Amino acid sequence: MRRRWKAAVAVAVAGLLTLTACGGGDDAGRRSQAVDHRKVEVFSWWTGPGEADGLKAMKEIFERRSGLRFFDAAVAGGSGDQARALLTTKLQAGTPPDTFQGHAGAELQGYVRAGQLEPVDFLYDELGLRDVLPRQLIDQISVDGRIYSVPVNIHRSNVMWFSPAVLRRAGVTEVPKTIDEFAAALEKVKKTGKIPLAIGSEWTMVHLLESVLLGSLGTDAYNALWTANSDWSGPAMTKALNDFKTIMSYAGDPSDDWQPAAKQVAEGYAGFTVMGDWAYGYFHNPPDGGLGKRSGTDFDWAPSPGTGGTFMWLSDSFTLPKGALNRDGAVAWLKVAASREGQDAFNPKKGSIPARRDADTSLYTGYLADALKDWSGDRLAGSIQHGVNVNDAWRVSINEAVGVFHASRDVAALQTALAEAAKAFGR
Ligand code: GAL
Repeated sequence: MRRRWKAAVAVAVAGLLTLTACGGGDDAGRRSQAVDHRKVEVFSWWTGPGEADGLKAMKEIFERRSGLRFFDAAVAGGSGDQARALLTTKLQAGTPPDTFQGHAGAELQGYVRAGQLEPVDFLYDELGLRDVLPRQLIDQISVDGRIYSVPVNIHRSNVMWFSPAVLRRAGVTEVPKTIDEFAAALEKVKKTGKIPLAIGSEWTMVHLLESVLLGSLGTDAYNALWTANSDWSGPAMTKALNDFKTIMSYAGDPSDDWQPAAKQVAEGYAGFTVMGDWAYGYFHNPPDGGLGKRSGTDFDWAPSPGTGGTFMWLSDSFTLPKGALNRDGAVAWLKVAASREGQDAFNPKKGSIPARRDADTSLYTGYLADALKDWSGDRLAGSIQHGVNVNDAWRVSINEAVGVFHASRDVAALQTALAEAAKAFGR
C-alpha cells in the first residue's frame, strides 16, 4: 500500500529536479525564455476513460472560441493524488501551470492562503457569474471577500453503484439503505463467489470512508467534524470506524485505480462499489472513453447506505495562479469553463452536473437528472478526499492513516490517527 505514496513522492521529486535544472527553483530563467502565448497549459488529472472525454469537449470549445492551443498538462491518477503532489512542487518553485484544477473548499483556500492564486472577481463582474452560481458555492471559493476560482461542475461523492445481475443472483431483493443492510447484502454476494465490494487504490478507501462516516454518524454529526464542536474521539466515531472495518472486510483486492474497480461492477464481477458520479460518465458514455453500458440494466445506483437525503458534494474549479506565464490565455480558458456552453459540453460526459444554475437541463438524463434534483433538494455535506472539508495536508494525513489501517485493521489506531490529524489541521 505504500507503493502509491512512494510513486507520488517520486513524481514530485522528479518534478523538483527538472525545475531546479531549468531555473534553480527561481523562475527568472523560465521567464526569459520566449513564451508561446498561443498555447495555454491546463493542469488536471483527467487522463483516464470517462474523465478525459469531458476535458476534450471543453478543449474543443476553447480552441474554437479563442484561437489558442490547449496544452494538456494532466498527470494521471484518479482523484489527483499524484497530480496534486507535483502541483505543490511546481507552485512552491514559482513555476505554475497557466491554470489548474483545484477543489472548491478547504483545498482551494489552502492555495489562496499560501499566496499562490490571483483573485478572479473581475471575471465574476464581467460575466455576471454571481447571478448564476449558487451562493454557497461562491462562499467555498472565497477568502476575505475575494473569489479565487471558476467552478465548472458539482460532483456527488456518496453514490453506491451496483450490479443488478449480481444482486439478483445473490438473492438481494432490496437495495440496502442502511449500513447494517449493506453488510447483510455484502455477505450474500460473498456466498456467490463474486467480489462483494470493488475498491481501487488507497484514495478510493478514503472515498469509501467518507460515505461510511456520513452514513454511520448522520449528517449533523458528520458536518460538525469540521467545526469547533468536532468529536473524533468519542463512541459514535468508534462505531463508525467499526462499520468501516466491517464493510472493508468485504472488499476485493485493490485495483490500480477507480476505473478498473468500477468496471468489475459494470461487467458483473462484483456486487457493489462506492464511488463518485464520475463513474457514471465512465459507465454510460459510449466506447472511446466510456464502457457504453445501460443504466438500470448493466449497473444501477442509490445513495451510499445511511446517506439518503444528503448530497455529499465536491466541485472541480479552475484557477489563475500567480506567475502564470500565459495569464491572458488562462483567462480565456476560465471564460470557457465559466460559460454555459463549456459546462454543458463538459458535464454530461464527465458524469457531473453544471455549477451554473441556467444550464440546459435536457442534456442531463438518467442518473444526472436525479443528481440535479437531489442537489437542489437534499441536505449538503462536503467531501473529505475531494477537498471540501480538509486542506491538502490534512487529506494526506487521513490517507496515511487509512493506508496503515488497510494493513493493520486496527480501529483504535485509526481513530487515534484521525483525531491527531484533526487536532493538527482542524479548527
Ligand atoms: C476527483 C475529481 C473528479 C474526478 C475524480 C476521480 O477528485 O474532483 O473530477 O476526477 O477525482 O479522478
